[in-house]
Amino acid sequence: MRLLVTGCCGFIGSNFVRMMLDKHPGIAITNLDKLTYAGNPANLSDFDDDPRYEFIHGDICDEAAVEEAFARTPDAVINFAAETHVDRSIDTPATFLDTDVKGTCTLLEAVRARGIRYLQISTDEVYGSIEEGSFDEESRLAPASPYSASKAAADLLVLAYVTTYGVEALISRSSNNFGPRQYPEKLMPLFITNLLTGGKVPVYGDGLNVRDWIYVEDNCEALEAILMRGEPGGIYNVGAGNERTNMEITRLLLRAAGRGEDAIEFVKDRPGHDRRYSIESRKVRDLGWEPRHDFEAALERTFSWYADNRDWWEPIKSGEFKEYYLARYGDV
Ligand code: NAD
Ligand code: TYD
Repeated sequence: MRLLVTGCCGFIGSNFVRMMLDKHPGIAITNLDKLTYAGNPANLSDFDDDPRYEFIHGDICDEAAVEEAFARTPDAVINFAAETHVDRSIDTPATFLDTDVKGTCTLLEAVRARGIRYLQISTDEVYGSIEEGSFDEESRLAPASPYSASKAAADLLVLAYVTTYGVEALISRSSNNFGPRQYPEKLMPLFITNLLTGGKVPVYGDGLNVRDWIYVEDNCEALEAILMRGEPGGIYNVGAGNERTNMEITRLLLRAAGRGEDAIEFVKDRPGHDRRYSIESRKVRDLGWEPRHDFEAALERTFSWYADNRDWWEPIKSGEFKEYYLARYGDV
C-alpha cells in the first residue's frame, strides 16, 4: 500500500507515520508538509534513509505541490495538515481558513479526480462545549473558536464531496491528544517543559475546563482502523474516556516534576474558552479498536519523554517560540 499523508512533520502525523512504518514492512509513505513553525523534520529524521519514506516540502493549498505528491499514485490519502492552536487562531483567523479549509478543498479536488480513499483528521472541538453527557457523531456542530470553525467548515466540505461527487472520504474526530513530539505551545508539553526549566505554569481562568484526553498512540491505532475498515462517508469520534479538569492535569504534572502548587500562575482566560469537551466513541470501537494505554501511566511516560529529550524541545523554546510566549504570557 502507498499512502499520501500531509502534515506529518507535526505531532500526531509523525507518530502515525512512525507506527505505520514500524508495523507494515511493505508500506510506502509520502509526506507533504509545508514546515510551518509547528512542522519539525527532526520528528521523522530517523527514517531519512528508509526507502519506504519520502518527504515533499510543500503547501496543501498549492495545486502544483499537491499534484507533485499525487504523482506518486497513492492508494489512500490522510490529511493531518492544519493550523492547530486555538490561541493562535484567535490572533490570526485567516491563516486557519487558508490551510484548514482551502487546503482541504485542494486535496479533495485531487482525490475526486482519482477516486481514492481519503481520511480527514478532524477534532471533537467542532461540536463545541457540552455541560453534561457526551456528543456522538450525529450531534450538531457548534464550533466556538476560529480553529474549530475552520475544522468544522472542512468537515462539511468533505461531506459535500461524498454526497456530490461520490468521493470515498471518512472523517475522524478525536479528543485532545498527548504524547511525545507535541509542539510546546499546547497544555501538556508547555507545562512539562516549563516545569523542567524551573518555571511556572500558566493556568487559564479557574482551571476547571474539562478536556477528554487520549494518548497519541491510541489515536493513531484508531486512525488505522478507520482508514482500513471505516464506512465511506462515515464520521468516527475517537476518545478514550479520560475527562480531566486542567487543574487535575496540572497537579499530576506538578507531582511528576516534584514541584508544589506555588508553581501555578492563574492567568487571564482565553476568549470564548470552551468549558467541557466530551465524546462517545462507540462507532470506532465497533471497528475493533480500543485504547490500550492507562491514562496516568501514559502521562508519566510523556513527562519522562520530555525530560529525556531536551535536545528536541530546547531549540524550539529558544527560537520563534520565545517571542510568542512573551507576547502571550509576559513574564510567567
Ligand atoms: P501540529 O500543529 O503538531 O502539526 C501540523 C503540521 O501540519 C505541521 O507539520 C505543519 O508544518 C503542517 N502544515 C500546516 N499547514 C500546512 C500546509 N498549508 N500545508 C502542508 N502542511 C502544513 O498538529 P497536530 O497536533 O499533529 O494535529 C494534526 C491534525 O490532528 C490536525 O488536523 C488537527 O486539527 C487534528 N487534531 C489534533 C488534536 C490534538 O490534540 N493535537 C486533536 C484532534 C484533532
Ligand atoms: P490546548 O492544549 O491549547 O488544547 P485545546 O484548547 O485545543 O483543547 O488547551 C487545553 C486546555 O488547557 C484548554 O482548556 C486551555 C488550557 N490551557 C491553559 O490553561 N493554559 C495554557 O497555557 C494553555 C496553552 C492551555
